[in-house]
Amino acid sequence: MGETVANLGLYGLGTMGSALALNILDNGFGLHVANRTHSVVADFVTEASKAGLGDRLTPHNDLDQMARDMPSPRAIILMVPAGAPVDAAIARLVPLLGQGDTIIDAGNADFNDTRRRTETVEAEGLTFIGMGVSGGEDGARNGPSIMVGGTPQAWGAIRPMIDAIAAKFEGAPCADHLGSDGAGHFVKTVHNGIEYADMQLIAEVYGLMRNGAGRSPAQIGQVFEKWDKGALQSYLVEITGVVLQAVDKSTGGPAVDVIQDKAGQKGTGRWTVIEALKMGQSASTIEAAVAARGWSAEKETRIAAQGILGGHRGAVSLPDQDYEKAFLAARIIAYAQGFRILAAASDAYDWGLDFARIAEIWRAGCIIRSALLDDISEAFRGDLPQGQLFLASNFADTLKSAIPALRRVAGAAISAGHPVPALTGALAFVDTMAQARGTTDLVQAQRDFFGQHGFEHIDGRTGQHGPWWDA
Ligand SMILES: NC(=O)c1ccc[n+]([C@@H]2O[C@H](COP(=O)([O-])OP(=O)(O)OC[C@H]3O[C@@H](n4cnc5c(N)ncnc54)[C@H](OP(=O)(O)O)[C@@H]3O)[C@@H](O)[C@H]2O)c1
Repeated sequence: MGETVANLGLYGLGTMGSALALNILDNGFGLHVANRTHSVVADFVTEASKAGLGDRLTPHNDLDQMARDMPSPRAIILMVPAGAPVDAAIARLVPLLGQGDTIIDAGNADFNDTRRRTETVEAEGLTFIGMGVSGGEDGARNGPSIMVGGTPQAWGAIRPMIDAIAAKFEGAPCADHLGSDGAGHFVKTVHNGIEYADMQLIAEVYGLMRNGAGRSPAQIGQVFEKWDKGALQSYLVEITGVVLQAVDKSTGGPAVDVIQDKAGQKGTGRWTVIEALKMGQSASTIEAAVAARGWSAEKETRIAAQGILGGHRGAVSLPDQDYEKAFLAARIIAYAQGFRILAAASDAYDWGLDFARIAEIWRAGCIIRSALLDDISEAFRGDLPQGQLFLASNFADTLKSAIPALRRVAGAAISAGHPVPALTGALAFVDTMAQARGTTDLVQAQRDFFGQHGFEHIDGRTGQHGPWWDA
């Protein structure tokens, strides 16, 4: 029987909620459950009983009844879609709970909502925890990566349960308290932003091999399978190898070919970009990925545009090693851009985020787990030039040797008409940052010309104006 200071309840037995509930039960904790649609609770009881976990489970007909029937202190986990459903559940729970009780939002919340909810719920004398859970259904069932935001006391109270259900990396739980209020949900959001970028980079490399070189999905899948044993080792590369080699039962052809090329998104990639921009950051790889998903959804427009503008994609013939290096360089930039956003938010919200620890808790259970994360945590524990991950000696060396390949891949793709916004976004970031003097002197001159905005002189004097304002 696991130890916990509170009686646990879970509301929302969908994909993630039911998997997380089984995980909690599996780890010896008792659990009360409820769901909007009552029949789902009955189905879950059957499932839990089949798994031999029924004796620790207390089903309820609805959220209110669950809250009333649970003994205090109560900790109720919400696993419902972000936004209004979370607010509605909180509004129902607050009058039914009391001092010592906790509401845990374990869905993918917008961290701004989490900050607001923390304030309003805690003003009522309750505790609120915003908890990012990564790893999809399999992670939730067998061990997710868990990012917790809230007070240290709140964390202390749920820690035994969280440590038990979290993924383990070399025996250590991939879960931690990252900061106050929205810190956990923010880190989870940026995790998803990096995930978007990584998936888009993979899709771009696949597109070049498929449409530029005419290789079959299965052949490309074998390349990804091989890459998964090297520097690119990661969950997303691993599943790409499996997915590309899968066969559709009805056509006998590649499974990927029967899937409509319209990508879905639930908002975390977009939130990452929005919050980054608000803080003056720009994560070009993540922006490219969000844009690519949005454009992909405009299928009818794309069909029309192909007819009107022509959609010719020419041949691209590059060695696999070039793709491997290009992807590695761009992946490093995608992670680095994600951590730059985390650094900006840590300052803005006074969270004191521990970047090395974040990299560590992403090493198992979550979707972006990869070999790179060990190097990232090591880099953050050392001295980083300007605090920049991409300038850490190990990453700088890799980038120096891989950037020429990224240039070849991006150049060939552009010349042949293959869209590679994330690969080129990564390259644009490196090329911009690696120029000690760029071209925004001219932008500043233009701003001063039309708006008298003034500029900083190269000798350090600020508020200067150009000769175009001389009488
Ligand atoms: N799927 C993933 O890989 C993943 C990974 C990490 C985080 N998340 C996050 O986890 C949360 C749950 O996602 P999911 O994939 O488990 O979704 P899901 O399978 O669609 O399940 C949604 C659950 O929420 C309930 N629900 C929906 N609308 C509701 C409302 N207005 N009021 C009350 N309950 C409502 C559903 O109840 P009914 O049975 O009545 O419909 C169901 O129990 C989301 O915040 C999601 O972003 C998902």
